[in-house]
Amino acid sequence: MKILSGIQPTGRFHWGNYFGAIRQYIDLQHNEQAFYFIADYHALTTVRDPQALRGFVRDAAIDLLALGLKPETATLFRQSDIPEVTELTWLLMTVTQMHLLDKCHAFKDKKAKGIAADAGLFTYPVLMAADILLYDSDLVPVGADQIQHIEVTRDIAGRFNQIYGVEALKLPSPHVVDSTAKVVGLDGEKMSKSYGNTIEMFEPDKKLRKRIMSIKTDSTPVEDPKNPETCSVFTLFKLFANDEQQAELAAKYRAGGMGYGEAKQALFDAAMAYFADARARRAELERSPDTVEDVLREGARKARDVGRQVLDRVRSACGL
Ligand code: ADP
Ligand code: TRP
Repeated sequence: MKILSGIQPTGRFHWGNYFGAIRQYIDLQHNEQAFYFIADYHALTTVRDPQALRGFVRDAAIDLLALGLKPETATLFRQSDIPEVTELTWLLMTVTQMHLLDKCHAFKDKKAKGIAADAGLFTYPVLMAADILLYDSDLVPVGADQIQHIEVTRDIAGRFNQIYGVEALKLPSPHVVDSTAKVVGLDGEKMSKSYGNTIEMFEPDKKLRKRIMSIKTDSTPVEDPKNPETCSVFTLFKLFANDEQQAELAAKYRAGGMGYGEAKQALFDAAMAYFADARARRAELERSPDTVEDVLREGARKARDVGRQVLDRVRSACGL
């Protein structure tokens, strides 16, 4: 079974990205053959600052390795190191029906807001289909928001195979990662870069603490009992704490006499403990940029070997 997924380097990763996606991608590397890539071609549809993009790609690679992605087990690469993916995108584009792309949400949402979209955003799902099909992927772990794109990928692959009367492309299936993990942000809404309410994983201690202290809470006085179930601080605390620790903090909420500052401090301590190993590994990787670059290069070499074979098969199927 071949697993593949990609993640966009459009900013620093936050708790939502980790609990909603990255953690599961990393867990899956142990049982299956896994390919993971940093989707820098995709990021170009939003990041237009070359310095920033390079930084995000580098940070994404370091973060993934620090969080537990093992290059001996999984193949980690940069999307743009595999030019074959752009060639496959064109070949797929020639069999992609416009109406499929019209209804894809990234483009549709932008259009609905009256914002002019680039062709890159419109054809984004075709590039994503190429990402998946180029490596004969079986299973694609994604968040629920990406299922639509996997369906489009299946449609495109099926149509290609049907038109050319061959099974040149393998149809992948989505694997929805823990959809219950909808991590809330500072304001209690879904944590997302676009809402400016994120808590990043590798923020320096002081900044992290400040960020946590800014989580929105209600104005219940310190001495009054509080409801943990409606408090974002407690909701976030649950991500890091075991049952016993959760019960202990919940009891303090209900007893009264505890201010939200104390709960926030407990969240800070729990998050620091949870990511302690990853933070230490990250600091080490920061000091050896060559190691990170070597991992990406070696990953690209392996991915390209597979991609080249599939692309040759597709080229020959359509008469090139
Ligand atoms: P953002 O919304 O910050 O731009 P992305 O769209 O780049 O994040 O997210 C990449 C993946 O991370 C998503 O497909 C989704 O699975 C996961 N993710 C992002 N935010 C959250 C969240 N608040 N809760 C759970 N998962 C999330
Ligand atoms: N579109 C995905 C996202 O925004 C990222 C992505 C690009 C991807 N290519 C992919 C995910 C291929 C899975 C497979 O999250």
